[in-house]
Amino acid sequence: MEPNWDGAMEEQDFFCDELATTPHPETGLVLVTGATGYVGGRLVPELARRGYRVRAVARAGAAAYRSKWPGAEWVEADALKPETLDAALAGVDTAYYLIHSLTLSARRFAAADLQAARNFRLAAARQGVRRIIYLGGLGDVRGPLSPHLRSRMQVAEELGQGPAALTILRAAVIIGSGSASYEIIAGLVRRLRVIPLPPWTRTRCQPIGIRDVVKYLVGVLEVEDTAGGSFDIGGPDVLTYRDMLRAQKEIAGRRIVCFHVPFANISFYAYMASLFVPVPASVIRNLLRSIGSEVVCKESEIRRFLPFATIPYREALVRALSREEQDRIHTRWSDAWPPAFELAMKLDQLPEAPQYGRAYSLESPKPASALFRSVCLIGGRQGWFQSSFLWRLRGLVDRLLLGIGTARGRRSHASLRVHDVIDFWRVEELVPDRKLLLRAEMKQPGKAWLEFNVEDLGDRRRLSVRAHYYAKTRPGKLYWYFFLPFHIFIFRDLIRGIEKRS
Ligand SMILES: NC(=O)c1ccc[n+]([C@@H]2O[C@H](COP(=O)([O-])OP(=O)(O)OC[C@H]3O[C@@H](n4cnc5c(N)ncnc54)[C@H](OP(=O)(O)O)[C@@H]3O)[C@@H](O)[C@H]2O)c1
Repeated sequence: MEPNWDGAMEEQDFFCDELATTPHPETGLVLVTGATGYVGGRLVPELARRGYRVRAVARAGAAAYRSKWPGAEWVEADALKPETLDAALAGVDTAYYLIHSLTLSARRFAAADLQAARNFRLAAARQGVRRIIYLGGLGDVRGPLSPHLRSRMQVAEELGQGPAALTILRAAVIIGSGSASYEIIAGLVRRLRVIPLPPWTRTRCQPIGIRDVVKYLVGVLEVEDTAGGSFDIGGPDVLTYRDMLRAQKEIAGRRIVCFHVPFANISFYAYMASLFVPVPASVIRNLLRSIGSEVVCKESEIRRFLPFATIPYREALVRALSREEQDRIHTRWSDAWPPAFELAMKLDQLPEAPQYGRAYSLESPKPASALFRSVCLIGGRQGWFQSSFLWRLRGLVDRLLLGIGTARGRRSHASLRVHDVIDFWRVEELVPDRKLLLRAEMKQPGKAWLEFNVEDLGDRRRLSVRAHYYAKTRPGKLYWYFFLPFHIFIFRDLIRGIEKRS
């Protein structure tokens, strides 16, 4: 269970209850790197539920994760800063390596991933870590590989050079609610009536459901004989990307015209797709870069140790869709994007108070809990009241500038927690019934925050919204004055809308 914005607990799904293996918590402390990411975020609660002592790694903001998974110990460490790793690895028996820097530019990610793996391997050796479990990518090492897949293999080689026994799991596309691959396919099918199919959509792939990935990750920990082995993991279906799109189309019951095009430029398609799906162009481009390489299991040795039946692609889609409909997405690709360390300067960490600010407030007889609940429902599908179109317009401009726009929406429409995204904002602070602080992640020449407060005045409550803006450059200052007239309109409308809905 995870704490929600009002202190209530969100129900969590557990996949490993069906595993036939026996938990061995006595083996010692288990470290999960990449715990703030899509896969790691699902693994941590599963391990804790099976009785393991879990230490989870975040690069920043570990305090906020402590309440999310009270069953785990959270530490801050960055694999690119070797001096932070020893403390994280001290006393660890088995470490999961789920780190990747896919969000960095193509030029930087391979070098960063290799360096991170090297630092980790050396620190693990110094701290006497016994086992490392790494989730990497599928792909035929003998054939031409995309830079991304090649990098995933170099990471495996690097980790394998240390004394710890390395278990490698190699997966293709992971399908589940909140996964970037799923949201791209589902978003295209939801928004488009005509879809062009470039030549690389003929490449074959063996997708796997997130539940099976988590089961394999936990399963190999519990089967000691998998230490030192490398295993391909995949679902039962081998499909082309066209087949995957077709399946989504059929499940969603959408009539879509698909036609073949010879033009194959990946950056162009990533940019075009980003205008229709919740995933930004840079993430789509990085995923598409691997699309020319066939990613199909070449062996099935893992079944000897963990012989459970993996779910078919269509079932993974239906499960993801139903999680979306039930508003029960536990982790999402946006949890780890953009990288926390690059944009995580908090309002109270600024070298000086923001120079610009504007506040709007109103008084209401309604209880603080009702007002705050309404605050926590802003954005996403619910929109921003009358001025929703202005927010969407700002989002569109951001998208055109290769930013994230408003399309990311929300992980959940009914719940909110620290680090969640709301369109182009991210939750920086949440104090139930009192305060919600959002940090802007859109492209702009300064740093911006939006702060909502509910104050108790005895028989009434004051509901306020305050925009904070910090800029040092001339374009940054001009930006504030340019948007000032819009603020008056947008924020008054917003605060009135929140009060009315509550
Ligand atoms: N998702 C898929 O479809 C898929 C498919 C096949 C294989 N895999 C493999 O599964 C693993 C996990 O993937 P994912 O989708 O969960 O990734 P993700 O959501 O992008 O998360 C990546 C994680 O790596 C962390 N990280 C990045 N650089 C770091 C550094 N220098 N030090 C410490 N932590 C760092 C991030 O932390 P921050 O929050 O601080 O950024 C984040 O927690 C990867 O090895 C990936 O190759 C994934």
